[in-house]
Amino acid sequence: MADSLDAAQRGFARRIIIWQEGHGRHDLPWQKTRDPYRIWLSEIMLQQTQVQTVLPYYARFLMRFPTLEVLAAAPLESVLELWSGLGYYARARHLHRCAQVIAAGDGTLSADPEGNARLPGIGRSTAAAISVFAFGRRAAILDGNVKRVLARCFAAKAAATAAQDERQMWALAESLLPASSIESYSQGMMDLGATVCSRHKPQCELCPLREICLACRDGRQAELPRRRVKRAPAQRLSSLLLLSDGRRILLERRPPIGIWGGLLSLPEGSGDSAAVFAERHGCRLLSSRELTPIEHSFTHFRLTMQVLHCQVEAIGLQANQAPLQWLPVDEVVAAALPAPIKRLLLALGMRDAPSIEEASVADDEAHTTRSES
Ligand code: ADE
Repeated sequence: MADSLDAAQRGFARRIIIWQEGHGRHDLPWQKTRDPYRIWLSEIMLQQTQVQTVLPYYARFLMRFPTLEVLAAAPLESVLELWSGLGYYARARHLHRCAQVIAAGDGTLSADPEGNARLPGIGRSTAAAISVFAFGRRAAILDGNVKRVLARCFAAKAAATAAQDERQMWALAESLLPASSIESYSQGMMDLGATVCSRHKPQCELCPLREICLACRDGRQAELPRRRVKRAPAQRLSSLLLLSDGRRILLERRPPIGIWGGLLSLPEGSGDSAAVFAERHGCRLLSSRELTPIEHSFTHFRLTMQVLHCQVEAIGLQANQAPLQWLPVDEVVAAALPAPIKRLLLALGMRDAPSIEEASVADDEAHTTRSES
């Protein structure tokens, strides 16, 4: 960083704090508490997901799991049910595992960011946010929004590798921390990145950094932060079977890791015909039709799902055979299903009555800030 920027660096935190106090967000539910559990939960939900999407999930989650002990004692399936539609399900699995680790130890998160960063699902930035908002500790946050503010303001030069870029950004973030008002500063950085210093349409005229921002001075907002060239995402295809006897749907619990780990989903069609598959599960195939394929983006690939919708008649007394289970249609809304599958089932009318849940499920991917992993 050039010497001429030192003065800008010195005034940086003050500008952010004053702006946050006048223009930042003050009424978010996790801003009204110092409870480390509630703050941790908010930070995990807010990873890759916008505030408006998180709000109803956060409220419902805390109604069901009001404390870390309650969460630790709950089965993973019920945690995934409340996460259904929010995406990035590894977050829910790690959250649950982490609650169990903490419950078996000290019983609470600590003020120390380095200790918390060793727990499942808590990276360096999330650990810092917990320390700042729950304990008032001085620690640097560096999520995607904060990186964009810093990269633009200081016109960060690209280093040779992504790891070097990352180290450079952390060093800059640490160097800017104020001696006091760490909560307002940290919230201000996140608020500014999420609202004013947005990726596509930054509102520089409203920005408290406009007099010191190099990207604004040189008209380089669109090219900063620099993006590394990414390979086109791989394409994958999967064939799914949707067996329904009118009252129930046959679902399969996915393995605990991998995509949609631990969630219920439609069984993958094997080499067997649908009739053989149905018979193996105590059903006779009455009719079948191909549905319009569903597309879903993950971080590293795009998935096309071809779904064969089969009307069946249950003829045997076949009990549920793990990992397969029959789900009554009126339980679809609340089940731990991936968003695109839940959307499909609801669109096919597999529900009890129209529900407010549907609106949030239909919108969830639009409000995540990246594709699901
Ligand atoms: N994104 C990540 N953490 C956040 C917070 N505490 N408030 C608003 N947005 C956030």
